[in-house]
Amino acid sequence: MAADTLAGIFQVLRRRPDVEAPNLQAWDATDRLLLETAVQLGRAGSTVAVIGDRYGALTLGASAVLAPASLRVHQDLITGERALRLNAEELGAGIPFVQLPLGEELLAGADTVLLQLPKTLAELEEIAAAVALHAAPDVRLLAGGRVKHMSLGMNAVLERYFLSVQPQLARQKSRILLAAGPKPPTTAARFPVVEHLAELDLDVAAHGAVFAGPRLDIGTRFLLAFLPAMKPARLAVDLGCGTGILAAMYARQFPAAAVTATDQSAAAVQSALATARANGLADRISVLQDDALGTFSDGSVDAVLLNPPFHVGAGVHAGAGLKMIEAAGRVLASGGELWTVYNRHLAYLPALERHVGPTVVEGRNAKFTVTRSTRSPR
Ligand SMILES: C[S@@+](CC[C@H](N)C(=O)[O-])C[C@H]1O[C@@H](n2cnc3c(N)ncnc32)[C@H](O)[C@@H]1O
Repeated sequence: MAADTLAGIFQVLRRRPDVEAPNLQAWDATDRLLLETAVQLGRAGSTVAVIGDRYGALTLGASAVLAPASLRVHQDLITGERALRLNAEELGAGIPFVQLPLGEELLAGADTVLLQLPKTLAELEEIAAAVALHAAPDVRLLAGGRVKHMSLGMNAVLERYFLSVQPQLARQKSRILLAAGPKPPTTAARFPVVEHLAELDLDVAAHGAVFAGPRLDIGTRFLLAFLPAMKPARLAVDLGCGTGILAAMYARQFPAAAVTATDQSAAAVQSALATARANGLADRISVLQDDALGTFSDGSVDAVLLNPPFHVGAGVHAGAGLKMIEAAGRVLASGGELWTVYNRHLAYLPALERHVGPTVVEGRNAKFTVTRSTRSPR
């Protein structure tokens, strides 16, 4: 019965505004296993919190098969949040859900938490700490993932926050870790983590889900070496800001510039905000959660700094980087500059020339290329 209902819902789900392709699905076997396990555990009618829903499969599935008394959801990516809303509209009436940041409002009183296990242990740690701290004492945390992406380290993280962590039988290459009995908060790690990067004399703040954590990525380090060669800008953008190191260092180098640090990830923009505050730069740096500069108008900025991602999920994928290059070309004013660092095996030059304008290779080392692209007049 639940299986049929879920099949009907999953069939309607789409990933837009994220990339769509015939081989890319908006749900996976873990979503189904999480929901069916919750039904078997008798969690229907309960107060449900969903964390890490990709495109709405868990939230909309829970709405249908658990008929929860209350349904709240946290997703890190703004594209996932939008896909959930669009899929909910498509499916029509169901139990309403509320989209919230990871924290007390999301988890207060929750007796059932459905979690798609995140990629990193740091992200799992932040989630587990929040669930243990804020959810109901009788909470059941169902943490599911693809077996090939799961590690014993995940059990260990959950065991730091819960008295009982039981791996369930695997099904269709997915498995659930069932955690119960939140431990008292004395052991809780504090997020964002703040560390001092001596080589930059910068405090870096990192929430669990953010790229590179509180460390300096080696590509970012290479791009920073070119700061003195950059033209001072009135308005500069750190596109895909992560912890906001590029934004902070740019703001320091060019005291007259206003800087926007923007990322699709909630954890990233919260980290960048905390980094700006930790270094006394909060009045110079604003942060914005946005998908590839979607809310910026054409020709509105003078400089963009970009260290694009080249891994999407578990696969190597240049599409995310190309989308960001295209976005940079759109928002730059004529004569404005895009500075990009990327793995030297990636063939980004044609895209930089096409979407932005004349592009010069300013530096190369064993791993990375740094380019300066100047926006051609429109
Ligand atoms: C390689 S990391 C660089 C982070 C940071 N700038 C640094 O140098 O440490 C790439 C960042 O791009 C972000 N990102 C990926 N796709 C994006 C999109 N469509 N819109 C905004 N940010 C995106 C990721 O969330 C990630 O934080």
